[in-house]
Amino acid sequence: MTVQIAPSILSADFAALGSAIAAVERGGADLIHVDVMDGHFVPNITIGPPVVRSVKRVARVPLDVHLMITDPDRYIDAFAAAGASMMSVHVEVLPHLHRTVHAIKALGVKAGVVLNPSTPVVALEQIAGDVDFVLVMSVNPGFGGQSFIPRSESKVQEVRALLDRAGNTSAPIEIDGGIDHNNAARVVAAGARILVAGSAIFHAPDPERATRELKAAAMAALTPSPSSAR
Ligand code: DX5
Ligand code: ZN
Repeated sequence: MTVQIAPSILSADFAALGSAIAAVERGGADLIHVDVMDGHFVPNITIGPPVVRSVKRVARVPLDVHLMITDPDRYIDAFAAAGASMMSVHVEVLPHLHRTVHAIKALGVKAGVVLNPSTPVVALEQIAGDVDFVLVMSVNPGFGGQSFIPRSESKVQEVRALLDRAGNTSAPIEIDGGIDHNNAARVVAAGARILVAGSAIFHAPDPERATRELKAAAMAALTPSPSSAR
């Protein structure tokens, strides 16, 4: 059992993405998290398939593409072709979520479903057995650098229980928003296994080191304490 760290390039210098990615990879990044925003679902506009294609050329770890857009069905083919290994879509915009999840899988991409902070876990009830992962937003999506919403911790526990009830014990929970070395161990203890971090990594003086330290903080929650070790 391990925890994966997914640095979000939203907080990196877009003029120097190649070196930003290389630095976090040296620090042990497991994935590169790519935030796609359309100015409709969220009040910000970021990047599209051409940038993902360029990032794919330089990244050595898989790309985790988070679609914060109102009409993901129109773009999943393009992001798969651009090099996404994981793609997540928001339940809030998808009346036909089952179809979208299976369309992503049919492209050979791992399919994730995302819940905004105000979206109840029950929204996943009928899809929990189909997903490859669930992304719990711990801030309202749209911007990096926001504060972690504490209630997200119990939400991760609830999602874990739902996935287990659905028999989907291998689907990991990803958490995104306000993650740093202070709360990493807590969210891992709650059940998160993929930690997204933007500002805590790319606004740190040394992103390579920040990645390594975040991973160590996260992994500490999985390591038995000395008193319980034999
Ligand atoms: C927020 C994005 C996040 C963001 C996280 O809408 O989905 O991935 O980059 O940034 P931090 O870690 O700074 O909250
Ligand atoms: Zn994200």
